[in-house]
Amino acid sequence: MMSNAKTSLLECPVCKTSHVPIKSPIENGVCASTCLYCGHFFKFKVTTPVRSEVILKVNGKEYTVDKSLDPATSLNEFLRDKRISMGTKYMCKEGGCGVCVVMAASVNPSTNDIERKAINSCMCPVFMCDGWSITTVEGLGSQRDGLHPIQDRLDKYNGSQCGFCSPAQIMNMYALLLNDTKPSKQEIEDAYDGILCRCTGYRSILDAMKSFADSKCSPTDIEDLETKTCRKTGKPCPGKCSNPATPKPERPLHLVLDSAQWFKPTTLTQLYDLLNQYKEKDMRLVLGCTGFGVYKDIGPWNYDILIDLHGVKDLYQIATSPQLQIGANVTLTSMMVTLSSCDLPKDKYPYLAECVNYIQRIAHTNVRNAGSWAGNLMMKHKHPEFVSDMFVMLETVRAQIFINGSTSVTANQLLATDMTGKVLTHVILPSFSANTVVKFYKVAKRSQNAHAYVSVGILMTCDANLVVQEKPAIVYAGISKTFTHATDLETFLQEKQLSDPSVIAKAIQILSKEIVPEADLLAGSIQFRNSLAVNLFYRFAIFMLGDKLDLRCRSGGFPLERPLSSGTQTYSTKTEEWPLTEPLLKVEGKSQVTGEAVYINDIAPAPGELYAAFALSHMGSAQLDSIDSSKAMEMQGVVKVLLAQDIPGVNNAMPSPYLPEEVLCSRRVMYAGQAIALVIAGVSCMQDRL
Ligand SMILES: Cc1cc2nc3c(=O)[nH]c(=O)nc-3n(C[C@H](O)[C@H](O)[C@H](O)COP(=O)(O)OP(=O)(O)OC[C@H]3O[C@@H](n4cnc5c(N)ncnc54)[C@H](O)[C@@H]3O)c2cc1C
Ligand code: FES
Ligand code: FES
Repeated sequence: MMSNAKTSLLECPVCKTSHVPIKSPIENGVCASTCLYCGHFFKFKVTTPVRSEVILKVNGKEYTVDKSLDPATSLNEFLRDKRISMGTKYMCKEGGCGVCVVMAASVNPSTNDIERKAINSCMCPVFMCDGWSITTVEGLGSQRDGLHPIQDRLDKYNGSQCGFCSPAQIMNMYALLLNDTKPSKQEIEDAYDGILCRCTGYRSILDAMKSFADSKCSPTDIEDLETKTCRKTGKPCPGKCSNPATPKPERPLHLVLDSAQWFKPTTLTQLYDLLNQYKEKDMRLVLGCTGFGVYKDIGPWNYDILIDLHGVKDLYQIATSPQLQIGANVTLTSMMVTLSSCDLPKDKYPYLAECVNYIQRIAHTNVRNAGSWAGNLMMKHKHPEFVSDMFVMLETVRAQIFINGSTSVTANQLLATDMTGKVLTHVILPSFSANTVVKFYKVAKRSQNAHAYVSVGILMTCDANLVVQEKPAIVYAGISKTFTHATDLETFLQEKQLSDPSVIAKAIQILSKEIVPEADLLAGSIQFRNSLAVNLFYRFAIFMLGDKLDLRCRSGGFPLERPLSSGTQTYSTKTEEWPLTEPLLKVEGKSQVTGEAVYINDIAPAPGELYAAFALSHMGSAQLDSIDSSKAMEMQGVVKVLLAQDIPGVNNAMPSPYLPEEVLCSRRVMYAGQAIALVIAGVSCMQDRL
């Protein structure tokens, strides 16, 4: 007889695989089962229930997730493949574009509060959504049953052009208003850092959304915003249903999938047991699962054992006494809220506001709503080249990071720690004296939603004469895999007076030598990153010198403040000619804001449908001698490889008067990435050759 009372999972005595008890009791709770892996027959006694299926709600209707799905199946794929929500779009599938945003409601096991957040459905594995309640654009309103206030507002402000991003823009605002019915214009603009719109230029979208900041235009209360969806049909049913969108508390779960096992423990003891049991296996802990938006190797499809941390109550704990402690499951958004709202004395924690501003520049709202500080740090652990702003932040403020609840390390020490079979549990942010200054600087391609070229965090304690009291912390990311601290500069600055110009000149000299960026094609050039790293320190020095400097230099110490955006639209109209030239709402607006507009990839594939992909040149400025397409033709499903000579008429993609550009390269390759062939294939190898 075999039973694992602590985890409620069954361990096969022969192959040690864990199972969910699937047979009903035969006598006094004793059951019999056959191991799914090795076929061994064994008996067991179940002490507490473990569920083996994922049930989630979408727009109030319950769905059970099919266990034959791949563990990597995203919520987005689930919603679209099952045709539950075709209004939820996709594009990049890596958290970059935001068109897949939906509202996810789940219960925080620590507070028992329902948390509602706008997340990227493309990065959220559907097996993670057990007990969650998802709202998509279809759950808000429709042309038939009437538009939701947010859909109506976007339509009236002409905030949709092609309309592809509109459902996501609406769901983002929906989640924002559910959390705060009276957001300011700045808060609304800040929340729109993660959803790209290729058409509108954002003015009309932001105007529509910011109109909710005006008390005259905002919905009177939360009831006006809640979706009303029929429990039975899942269709909008304004006012007649009790709220069906309530998520369920986190429950233990074990799924035996075709290619992996998925566990969701609910206590630290269960978690440690699983970590211990599977430490030799290919195992991944899952929280926001946003990491694979940056590194594909941490995608859920690469692991045998997936352990979802969402159920573990202890990992959500936040405490401000005796120390500021934040659990590993706390998302970047919740961390910002905690640091900005905790009433800790400013003379002991003078740096919290600076941390909040810095976290706000990590990724974008929707990634921050799902992703945790612990996940970010562990990405740096796995990929030391990752330009992790969370690493810079925690290492600068000398945070203590706890492994398995007991061992504490700094962020830098964590990078050298073997984390096999271990979990980060919490972080403690220390207190400092009031004369300690902490500053973070990040320079990236854009102010929001962009990885840094170089990030730096500086912690320095000076006396009233600007003499550096103890060894400062000067922490960089974006230089190389191994460079974290500017140690030479840190050592030099001890007991030096910052107001002495020769000290700053010498510091810059030391730093310029110490910063040796690694070549990286995707990052800025070596020279650029070196001078950037030095200049960011110089900005810090200017900040510290403050009014000791002449007025002309002082502004260099402060970040550029971007004011709230605004725009106006003007057009000429002749009222005497109306209805000609009369401004009208566009006809497609309502179908776009309700997610009912159908785009090409919303149409189900027709039988025998074929797909095409360009084969690109890996070389630029080259000559094409010949093309051998025989290997491509041997591949399953390939029906044709089209070359330049197959193009009827003129092989030119550009209309007059532009210079001609070949559709498929015929001889002279102009640049790497130029299309050489078009490979056409169908899903079935049974398709006839063209
Ligand atoms: C579009 C985009 C933009 C981004 N921009 C930035 C940026 O500007 N700056 C920046 O610093 N980051 C950026 N990121 C990274 C982002 O912050 C991280 O993806 C996120 O914080 C990871 O958290 P997660 O909970 O989703 O981790 P997951 O993806 O769930 O996990 C990541 C890794 O951490 C491990 N892990 C998770 N929790 C624990 C734990 N408690 N103990 C041990 N291991 C654990 C997992 O096993 C996995 O290996 C960006 C990400 C995206 C997708
Ligand atoms: S599809 Fe681009 S963020 Fe999800
Ligand atoms: S992508 Fe935003 S309206 Fe076209």
